[in-house]
This record gives sequence, structure tokens and C-alpha cells, in this order.
Amino acid sequence: MRILVTGGAGFIGSNFVRWLHERGGSEYKAERVIVLDSLTYAGNLANLDGLDAHSSFRFVKGDIRDADLVQSLLKEERIDAVINFAAESHVDRSILDPLSFVRTNIEGTQVLLNVSQELEIPRFLQVSTDEVYGSLGPTGAFVEETPIDPSSAYSASKAAADMLVLAAWKTHGYAVSVTRCTNNYGPFQFPEKLIPLFITNAMADQPLPLYGDGKNVRSWLHVDDHSDAIMKVLTKGTAGEVYNIGGGEESEKQNVEVTQAILTILDKPSDLVKHVEDRLGHDRRYAVDYSKINKELGWAPSVPFEVGLQETVTWYLENQSWWQAIKSGEYMKFYEKNYAGKLDTAVGN
Ligand code: NAD
Ligand code: TYD
Repeated sequence: MRILVTGGAGFIGSNFVRWLHERGGSEYKAERVIVLDSLTYAGNLANLDGLDAHSSFRFVKGDIRDADLVQSLLKEERIDAVINFAAESHVDRSILDPLSFVRTNIEGTQVLLNVSQELEIPRFLQVSTDEVYGSLGPTGAFVEETPIDPSSAYSASKAAADMLVLAAWKTHGYAVSVTRCTNNYGPFQFPEKLIPLFITNAMADQPLPLYGDGKNVRSWLHVDDHSDAIMKVLTKGTAGEVYNIGGGEESEKQNVEVTQAILTILDKPSDLVKHVEDRLGHDRRYAVDYSKINKELGWAPSVPFEVGLQETVTWYLENQSWWQAIKSGEYMKFYEKNYAGKLDTAVGN
């Protein structure tokens, strides 16, 4: 199989490419993998270090909205499957700059879809998120039939993209799939998301800005489990279907619990935690029922959260130059904008 991976220099895309190369590739016969990534602030060629030594791998810098580029790449590389990871992915940034989310997540997905459909690329997989379903109360879990009800410009733009992708199936019979996964964690995650931000801040004895009461719940999935689920859906999933992917009940944690687990692993004091003003429109709880992918495709999560978190903290300890380069650059402008007012009025733990 010859696969185009968009957004492959970001967190999940780069882990996916490495996972394919090291583990899943032979099972799924991935003979060629092309990464197309425009290298936004979140894209980083260092995430793909070592892969360019392999003849089966190619990196192309470019935007998914560039139809001519996408078309020539799909033809030249005789691509059989497109997996669209490319996105603006951070909820806090979508509060500050929603338009960039519309441009990449909605317009970009439609451009990629148009060209893929026109060239009759056999499979198109849209990597989406459980956030399209909105927020849950204290019980229950999202199923594929749960009505979409997004809260942020991030999740609204992902929901719009899902609808456009599914419309290509309904209108033209184009063989698409949509996966909706819960929060991922693991190596190479940009240190603006909860887990890598708190690990790296704690390592530097910097405050951990916990939003609101810290009792919002997320279900956590190791990024390698996500990669495996994506390949199962791509190769064995039913066209035109949505598949939920999640970590199960034992992976559902309040943010305070995740924070404390990080502090314990790093042996840092809990007074680093600062309760700051809540995120606007903050979804209270996500939980995913993954029984459809489990029953139909035999997928289940394999990495327990405690084991995966320990390994992730170790990775950040061993790869300080990777995240220090990010944190000493352009990123700090966002950090200061997003947290300055909040940290000024923070309440101690
Ligand atoms: P990320 O922000 O780490 O990476 C996104 C990548 O897309 C970057 O390399 C960036 O350069 C690239 N990109 C952005 N705009 C582009 C464009 N117009 N053209 C080409 N490349 C572009 O994101 P991530 O956390 O790796 O998420 C990947 C995908 O998975 C996203 O679609 C996201 O919605 C989805 N997802 C993420 C999570 C999570 O917990 N991170 C959970 C479920 C689903
Ligand atoms: P995040 O990693 O941004 O993922 P998402 O918003 O897509 O779920 O946030 C995970 C949770 O952590 C979410 O409830 C918001 C919270 N959070 C904080 O409390 N402080 C922070 O600085 C960040 C980035 C997130």
C-alpha cells in the first residue's frame, strides 16, 4: 500500500509514521509513506528524524489546500490511501484565532477530498476527534450515533470536516472513513497540550496552570494505540462509516488526577499547581464507547494509562533539547498571551 499522510510532522502523524515503519508496516504492507506537511508552528522535522534514511519514506513540505501540489503528488506517487491528520489542533488557539481552523480543518479537508475523489484514490481516512460530540454529564459515553454538538471553533471545524467527508460517501459513493478518537498522549506531543505542558513546566519548576476546578474529565489513549486503530479502519473498516476510538473507563481521569500523577513521577511539589481562570466554553467530560471498532475490527486499547504516562515522562526527561528548542522559540508568544492574565490571578493549590 502507498499512503499519503498529511500532517505527518505533527504529534500523532509522526508517531503514526514511525509506528508503521517499526511495527505496523509489514502487517499492513505499507510499502511507501509520503508525508505532506506545511510545517506550521506544530510541525517539526525533528519529529521525523531518521526516517528519511529509508527509501520507502518521503517528506514533502506543502499545504493541503494546494490542490495542484496534492494532485501531482497523488499521481506521481500512485497513492492508494490518503490519511488526513493535518489540522489546527489546539482548543486554546481556536479561541484566539478561529479563522485559521476554518482554513485548514474545513477548506483544507475539502481540497484534499476533491482531489482524492477526482483521482479515484481507493481509500480516504479523516482523522477526527470525540470533541465533535460536545460535552458529557457525569455518566455515559459517546457512541457513533451521538449527535454532534461541538463547543469550540476547533471541534466545530472538525465536525464540519467530518460532515464534508461523509457527504462525499453519501453523494458520490467515495470510499471514506472517519475516526473519532479521544485525547492522545505520548512522545513528540507539542508542549502546549495538558500532559506535555505540565511535564515540561514541572521539570523546570514552573507553575502548572490548571483550568477552573481541575475536575474536567478526559479519556486518555496512547498514540500507538491510535495508530493501530487507524490502520484497522483503513484496511478493514466499512466505507462511509464513523468509528469511535477510546481508552475505556480506566483511562478516564480528572485533570487534577493527571496533574498529580505527573508531579508524583517527577517527585515535584504540588504547590506548583495554580488554579487559573477556566477555559472559555470548557467541555466538562469526554468518554468514548469503542465497542463498534472492537466488535467489527477487533481493536482494543493496549497501553494502560499509568504505564504510558511513566514512559512519556521518561521520554520528555531524555529529550530535553527537543522541547527546550520549542519552548525557547515563537511558542512563548502564545504562552504569554494565553496564560499571562490567568497566571496573574491564579489561586494556589
Ligand atoms: P498537531 O497540531 O501536533 O499536528 C498537526 C500537523 O498538521 C502539524 O505538523 C502541522 O504542520 C500540520 N498542518 C497544519 N495545517 C496544515 C496545512 N494546511 N497543510 C498541511 N499541513 C498542515 O496535531 P495532532 O495532535 O498530531 O493531531 C493530528 C490530528 O488528530 C488532527 O486532525 C486532530 O484533530 C486529530 N486528533 C488529535 C487528538 C489529540 O489528542 N491530539 C485527538 C483526536 C484527534
Ligand atoms: P488539552 O490538552 O488542551 O486537550 P483538549 O482541550 O483537546 O481536551 O486539554 C486537556 C484538558 O486539560 C482540558 O480539560 C483542558 C485542561 N488544561 C488545563 O487545565 N490547563 C492547560 O494549560 C491546558 C493546556 C489544558
